[in-house]
Amino acid sequence: MNAPDRPGVLALPVDARSCGTSPAHEAAHLHVSGRALYVDDVAEPQGTLFVAPVLSKVAHGRLRGIATAAAQALPGVVRIIVAADLPGTNLLGSAQDEPVLPAETVDYVGQPIALVVARSAKAARVAARAVVADIGPLVPILSIDAALEAEAYVLPPVHLVEGDVPSALAASAHVLKGEFAVGGQEQFYLEGQIALALPGEDRTMKVLSSTQHPGEVQHWVAHALHVPTHSVQVECRRMGGGFGGKETQAGQIAVWAAVAAWLTQAPCKMRLDRDDDFLITGKRHDFIGRWTVGFDDDGKVLGIDMLQAARCGFSADLSGPIADRAIFHTDNAYFLPAIAIHSYRCKTHTQSNTAFRGFGGPQGVAMIEAIMDDIARHLNLDPLAVRTVNLYGDAPRNRTHYGMEVEDNILPDLLPRLAVDCQYTERRAAIAAWNATQPVIKRGIAITPVKFGISFTATMFNQAGALVNVYTDGSVTVNHGGTEMGQGLHTKVCQIVADTLGISLDKVRITATDTGRVPNASATAASSGTDLNGRAAEFAAIEIRERLRRYVAQAHGVSLEDISIRANEVHLPGKTLPFVQVVQQAYAARVSLWSDGYYATPKIHYDRVTMRGRPFYYFAYGAAACEVAIDTLTGETRLLRADILHDVGRSINPAIDIGQIEGGFVQGVGWLTSEELVWKADGLLATHAPSTYKIPTAADVPEQFSVTLWHEANREDNVFGSKAVGEPPFMLGFAAFFAIREAVAAARVDSADAAADARVSLSAPATPEAVLRAISAVHA
Ligand code: MTE
Ligand code: MOS
Repeated sequence: MNAPDRPGVLALPVDARSCGTSPAHEAAHLHVSGRALYVDDVAEPQGTLFVAPVLSKVAHGRLRGIATAAAQALPGVVRIIVAADLPGTNLLGSAQDEPVLPAETVDYVGQPIALVVARSAKAARVAARAVVADIGPLVPILSIDAALEAEAYVLPPVHLVEGDVPSALAASAHVLKGEFAVGGQEQFYLEGQIALALPGEDRTMKVLSSTQHPGEVQHWVAHALHVPTHSVQVECRRMGGGFGGKETQAGQIAVWAAVAAWLTQAPCKMRLDRDDDFLITGKRHDFIGRWTVGFDDDGKVLGIDMLQAARCGFSADLSGPIADRAIFHTDNAYFLPAIAIHSYRCKTHTQSNTAFRGFGGPQGVAMIEAIMDDIARHLNLDPLAVRTVNLYGDAPRNRTHYGMEVEDNILPDLLPRLAVDCQYTERRAAIAAWNATQPVIKRGIAITPVKFGISFTATMFNQAGALVNVYTDGSVTVNHGGTEMGQGLHTKVCQIVADTLGISLDKVRITATDTGRVPNASATAASSGTDLNGRAAEFAAIEIRERLRRYVAQAHGVSLEDISIRANEVHLPGKTLPFVQVVQQAYAARVSLWSDGYYATPKIHYDRVTMRGRPFYYFAYGAAACEVAIDTLTGETRLLRADILHDVGRSINPAIDIGQIEGGFVQGVGWLTSEELVWKADGLLATHAPSTYKIPTAADVPEQFSVTLWHEANREDNVFGSKAVGEPPFMLGFAAFFAIREAVAAARVDSADAAADARVSLSAPATPEAVLRAISAVHA
């Protein structure tokens, strides 16, 4: 299908010279040469002190006392901080359910219970180990099932019911029960959590924080210090990765550093050691799904009744909206005429789980994709055929279970296109022939689609501000509320501003995100960084451009329509003026050369109580085809080939978008295959370093790896006609997982269990142990 011809829908900058091309990331030259300044690289002021946390060794217990004298006597130790020393309120978090430092109970192994402030980072860490806590153990809840059993929740259960599920199940030719467990995931940003707090005059505090949400860090620090928000300034030039892990949980580190700086009146830096980062901070929520599904002979779903349970950890954090997004994405790409979802937000005595790329969406998608796979095996159909027959289509098969109509669905075109381009049918036949003769190495191929809703589901977060300053030498700075974590947001925003002003990209510099410049900014999250901040910056630049054009029209006595700015030049009838000259003349004529810009996403609305509305402005789509091989003796798997066709609308920067697609996909594959979090019986996270927790490396990237961008612009009016790209490609990783299920099915073909039930009971991650178990598994 071609782009709909709707003039005016695509907001094209006047002269798109940079947008649509692939200039390098604005800091690439700094990244590759080691000169990019991360928080730890910023020169420390004289007298900077270092903060190390004292971690609980008990999962759940009553804190009876903390013995600090021995640690206090160690060299370099300045101060040890416990709950009683805190200057402000001791509660943080979305539900005010997280202590800055616990006063009475401890809630997980790794919880910071005291802070050591010392003259060197090493002295602080050594002393932290010398602090002794007296904790009376209580019985911890360590698993989702134990929490369900105890009805221990961080937030009340949520039930979404659409259609008459019992009747749909009763009328179905086939009814299956199934379940799927999907593991958590450590964000593993390369730059760990860090903050540098700088006390200022008159009860103020400046914090350099590696955070996706400077505004929230500002609120938390103000709250913890008991000062007004205006007394705290938070700055973030860049993060070395966030992936959701720094959406809320950069806040605690900043608060700990700020409290230490407040109490000592010295600059204080807190940089978590990698093991401590693993032990302290929350990860992706692991989920359990259990369902009954009814379907017809073609595999078309008629009704689903499903339980979803998430491990939230000890506090609410973002668990509510994350579990909600899992509910919203339980359809993935499919029309579900009747569905009941019962969502439980389980409280466990473990790290407080938080955002991670996809924000619960991937966990919802996992459930429905496992259902598609089970249906296909039960009916002995090609899983792609079952997926295709269930895709959203024309009305009435275009209504989601939360009442939103899917108006921009391109999957009925995109999915078969990918299948043809990657020769799915031919390769599937070749793989079947291989599997028929090869006893040890089995292969599999799978295609899975993605449809991902773009917008924060909490409507109010869908707003952004930006500030564009033009200086009298024609150079420009742009500042906005979004943060840079490697995803290329700042580069895209610079491209948008350059094109809108009609100047070259080298004239535009982006400055650090700063709560003092653009206030009340939302987190850079939900993939909406460019949609929101890019648009706000565009509006600011348009304002300045129009002032310049109006000034030229008046000064030169020409009509406004005859003036345009392109390539650093102002064109008017019979004359071309350098941009810088016009800027200087406008300044002399007292025309303001700076402007703010503000954007709020249109069309969206959503009722939290009824769970109905239009939570998303539009959807981003894609599909991946993966071929894998498994070794049936060791359970080892290898991704041989991946073909991706993904929709980014009209790309602002194709190289950056392809990078996001490749990176997101590989991270998704890591989640579903090699990354496994293991807690010991006492609640200690055993996998707290790269030695025991395996993220994908360059060697895990498939040898044949192709990414193609879908050709169509966003059908909604979005900046430059683009679509968000940060999170949707993560879910392309399911193709690798379901290809592994295909290979496992091939390995099971001769077994008696497989004859009884062709379904594959393989949950995620598909580690070698899990693959071996699945090959010999007997269905319950
Ligand atoms: N890409 C890089 N390199 N590093 C990151 O930390 N985070 C992802 C994604 N891509 C991330 C990334 C997540 S979780 C989100 S929500 C988006 O980027 C946020 O940025 P955006 O809204 O500008 O796409
Ligand atoms: Mo991304 S999980 O929305 O930070």
